[in-house]
This record gives sequence, structure tokens and C-alpha cells, in this order.
Amino acid sequence: MRIRTFDQYQEAYRHSVEDPEGFWAEIAQEFQWRKPWKRVLQWNFEEPNVKWFIGGKLNITENCLDRHLKDKADQPAIIWEPNDPTEPTVTLTYRMLYDQVCRFANVLKRNGVKKGDRVCIYMPMVPELAVAVLACARIGAIHSVVFGGFSAQSIADRINDAQCSVVITSDGANRGNKQIPMKDTVDDALIGCPSVKKVIVLTHTRTAVAMLKGRDVWWETEMKQVTAECEAEEMDAEDMLFILYTSGSTGKPKGVVHTCGGYMVYTAYTFQNVFQYEPGDVHFCTADIGWITGHSYILYGPLASGATSLMFEGVPTWPDAGRFWDIVDKHKVNILYTAPTAIRSLMGFGLDYVKGHDLSSLRILGSVGEPINEEAWHWYDDNIGKNRCPIVDTWWQTETGGMLITPIAGITKTKPGYATLPLPGVQPLLVDEAGKEIEGNGVSGNLCMKFPWPGILRTTYGDHERCRQTYFSAYPGLYFTGDGCLRDEDGYYRITGRVDDVLNVSGHRIGTAEVENAINMHTGVIESAVVGYPHDIKGQGIYAYVIAENDTDHDVDLVRRDILATVSRIIGPIAKPDKIQFVSGLPKTRSGKIMRRILRKIAEGDTSNLGDTTTLLDPAVVEEIKAGALVEVKA
Ligand code: PRX
Repeated sequence: MRIRTFDQYQEAYRHSVEDPEGFWAEIAQEFQWRKPWKRVLQWNFEEPNVKWFIGGKLNITENCLDRHLKDKADQPAIIWEPNDPTEPTVTLTYRMLYDQVCRFANVLKRNGVKKGDRVCIYMPMVPELAVAVLACARIGAIHSVVFGGFSAQSIADRINDAQCSVVITSDGANRGNKQIPMKDTVDDALIGCPSVKKVIVLTHTRTAVAMLKGRDVWWETEMKQVTAECEAEEMDAEDMLFILYTSGSTGKPKGVVHTCGGYMVYTAYTFQNVFQYEPGDVHFCTADIGWITGHSYILYGPLASGATSLMFEGVPTWPDAGRFWDIVDKHKVNILYTAPTAIRSLMGFGLDYVKGHDLSSLRILGSVGEPINEEAWHWYDDNIGKNRCPIVDTWWQTETGGMLITPIAGITKTKPGYATLPLPGVQPLLVDEAGKEIEGNGVSGNLCMKFPWPGILRTTYGDHERCRQTYFSAYPGLYFTGDGCLRDEDGYYRITGRVDDVLNVSGHRIGTAEVENAINMHTGVIESAVVGYPHDIKGQGIYAYVIAENDTDHDVDLVRRDILATVSRIIGPIAKPDKIQFVSGLPKTRSGKIMRRILRKIAEGDTSNLGDTTTLLDPAVVEEIKAGALVEVKA
């Protein structure tokens, strides 16, 4: 399973293409199955229908926990670094994590949760979040973790889509010098969620909360009522493990579904190889468990590999911009996996915050979530890795479950800005708009996959047709990633960004349609159009063109503030526009379609060549928008 040289990578790659079933069967055998699979793979990308390890029975938590009790019981599974550096660190050994997961699994059962039920988890980055996720998996309940930055409305939408019966939350969350209510937000969400029968509340910030009799129970009280014995539920390899909502170019976020067997095999395989994990290494992935990166590379990948995973509650800039480096030094972190947006932000604070921290424990650096610009890559390489730690620029998506195109640390020669080569089992291709494959090197096109890997999404919850439409219909027979990509003369892949109406703001995926819908909820707004523009730190910023009602003219700033508040309330603060420009009309074709190409150019500050505007219903509107963009645009 372990790739140690570039020759071995090439050999593994060749094997995975020539005999995918044999290749993945060998890897899957290293895990603990209750019953072996009858067939490795069955698939077509038309319906789509993808099944891995068919007939195999397992429980992922037996692989993440029980399996390690023999020789790693006292090894740290999770090291938790609190928001406030003066508070104590919490270390959960595999034995301790196992006990807590079993206990909490019993709490879930006590509260009526059964195999197949959906459980919504809305929690800060505390060890109990890991416990809650794994406890669901232990009893075969399907977890749906909702990132702590989402609003009550977003939580409600996700709960209703999946018909969750239980919500797990905490009183509040600490983020830097702020305390954020969690339970209050859940209470607001639940006004519109009749499926929810129980809410389990962890005491964390000691913020006062209202507890609804019969519905709300305390985590701590419940944990006292149960034992630490909980037999794991036997799951089919293709039973759902979790749902994770992600934004697309249209409509509400989709519930991406991952299943037990393939996801486990894929996250562990990629974790061990890409990061070249060695026993005893401390792995620090800075993502939130509310996103796929946290699911796959804080929890499942590392734990299924018996690794030590560091979980951080706080933010990179508090108490100061040296916090990551302080954590690396304090916990002797060997692998650091973070996002370009964090690197760019910390870069801006200067090197004084890096100095004085011993970073010599670092062996491998990772990047994920968005394209990494060369300047950030070099800063990371020079100042954090001191030019001795390979950087793995890992490209993947919520839908892919794990990394697909990435260097293998220390083995694949890196090139700044390039995700380099596909992992074994991954068969990328570039296509033109017509779906024709673009062969050879030194080319670019839309990035697709022609063969399934074990971590690929299986469906979108409750709406399989939407899954087909979104990922498998643009180019029949292929999985379409939504990303543009170039393949250079060496055959190396460089992801250039989304080709659809999805923005990537600070590594968070946000649909322009979602933001428009939220802005349009504001009563003073008639219509809006949202596009992305290059942003020095966030990668992309959100630029909103808004047609407001006439009588708002007298207090534009107030309307702006109200719009921001509306977006925060409907989606969450992460989706707030960076710039708002009031306009009297939007550039539309005669058929009523907004010409986003033009709006994008203006937002980028490039008004010199807007292309052909003669087909527009009202070409004059473009001149007005151009002039307005130069005068006054604020958020
Ligand atoms: O556009 C790509 C970008 O992030 C998108 C996936 O977002 P999400 O599902 O939220 O998952 C993020 C974490 C895996 C992709 O379609 N993206 C992700 N990683 C990279 C990237 N773009 C360039 N380089 C990357 N390494």
C-alpha cells in the first residue's frame, strides 16, 4: 500500500489503470471487514451507479478505533488545542476516544437514534465533535455536519433536506476573542424543523441557553447514564456514512453522500501516501470538520491509519498571527495541512510572527481548497518549510471524498501552482466545450474523470437525478469536476479555478445563485447579480450588482448594511459580499439572460474590452455600470 519511490508510484498507477479491481482489493484487504466483499466494483457513469466492495460488511469505527486498541491504545488519537493558548490541551488516546465514542453512541441510542437515521451536528471544533461524528458512524446513523459559520436558515434547510431527527450542538463557540452562540442559532433554526425530536447540548462556553423540556438534553448528564460498551453496527460497504452539503451553480446546496467502505479505503490510502505518514507523526490539518477536508483528513483518514491528529479550536490570527507556528512548536507538528487563504493572510502580517518559533519538527506541508499562487507557495516553502519540506498542493472536492491530483510528499517533483499528477486509481482527462477529449500536453480544458475511485460521491441526498444532472450529464460517460485545468509539457496538472458559477472565497465554496437569492430577500432589492473577482487574501471576493428600489436613494449605506445583514442571516457571514454596486439595470440578452461575462470583467477592473455588447437588450446599461464601478463601490 505504501509508495516509497517515484518508480513505485508509476508502477502503482499502471496497476491501478490496468487492473483497478485487483489494485483496490489489495489495499482494502488491509482493513478489518466483518465479511469480505463479493465483488470489488460495479459502475456506470450514465445513471450514475457506482458501488465498491459489494457485499462487504464493516464498521468504519472498528477500523478507526477498535483495531488500534491492541498496540496503540495509549497513543494519542486526537490532540486538541483550545482557542485560548493558556487553557490546557486535551489529549485523547485511542483508548479514551474509543470509550467516549461508545458512550456517546449509547447516548444517541437512548435518545432514539437508529441505524439509517440522520443526525445534524452543529458544533465548534472541540474533541466532542469528533466523538459525535464517530458515535453516529458506530451505530450506523448518518451524520450531517454543518459548519459553525452557517446561519439558522442554512441549518434549517440542511436539517429539512435530510429530515434529521436529532441535532447535536453546544452552548457556544470560542473564536479568537469572540464568543459565538450555537444553541441559540439552533433554536432559531428548529422553529421550522418538525423532524427534530431531540437536541443534545454540550457545555462548552458556559453561555446561558434555553433548554426546551422534552426536546433538549445535556451532553454531560446523558453521558453519565450510559456504559462504555457499544457493539458497532454491521454496515454494508455501500450504506451511507454521511451527508455533507456543498454549493453548486444552481439552487440550494446539495447533500453529497459518501458510503462506508470506499470512503474509508480511499481516505486512509491517500492520507498515508500523500503525506507519507510515519508512526508517531503529529498531523495538523487546520480545516474545520464542517468541511470535507476535516472529515477526511482530521478524522477518518488519519484515524483509519492509527495516526495522531491535531484539532485546533481557534483562528490563525489570535492571540496573534503566530498562532499556527506556536502550535507547530508546542506539539512538535510533523505534517501541516492548510489553505492558501490562511498562508496569504499570515504572509501579510510579516515574518516577525514566524520568528522565535521552532518549526524544525515540520517534515511535510500541504495546501488545499483553492489554487495556490506562486508568491504564497514560495513564502510557505521558504519561511515555514525552510526549503526542506515538500509541499503537496492537493486538488480534490467534497464530491471526490479524498485527494485526486496531488504530489506524493518527497516523491513527486513539485512545481509551484501545480497539483502535479493523479494518484493511483485516478484517471483525469481534459475536454473541450463540446466534450471532445483534448489529448497531448501543453493544453487546457475542462477537467473530468473517466473512471471511478472508491471515494467518489454516490448520490446527492434525496435527489439522485440532481446528482446525474450536476456531475454526469455535461459530458456523458464522464464525471465533470466543474474546474478548468491545464496540463503542461511535463503532463503536470494545474487547476485554474471553477468554470461554473461557483465562487471560492477563502477556500469556501459559495454559489453565486445562493448569494443572489439571499440578497433578493431584502425588501429594498429588486434584482441582483453576483460574480467573483480576484482578492489578494481570499482568492476570490464577492461582487454584487444590486438594483435597489428608488426610494432607497437617500440612504445607500443603510441599504448596504441591511443587505450584508440579510446575507448573514440567510446563509452566514462567509457569504457576505465584499463589494456592492447599485445599478439601475443589469446587462441582459434579449432572452433575459444576465451576461455575467461582462459583469465579471467590470468586477475585475478590466473594462477595456468587454466584447460584443450589441446583442444586449440595453447596451447603455453597461456604460452606466462601468462608470459607477469606477466611482464608488463599497460593501
Ligand atoms: O475549484 C476547486 C477548488 O475547490 C473546489 C472544491 O471545493 P470543496 O468541495 O469545498 O472542497 C475543498 C477541499 C477539498 C474544487 O472544485 N480546489 C480544491 N483544492 C484545490 C482547488 N483548486 C486548486 N488547487 C487545489 N489544490
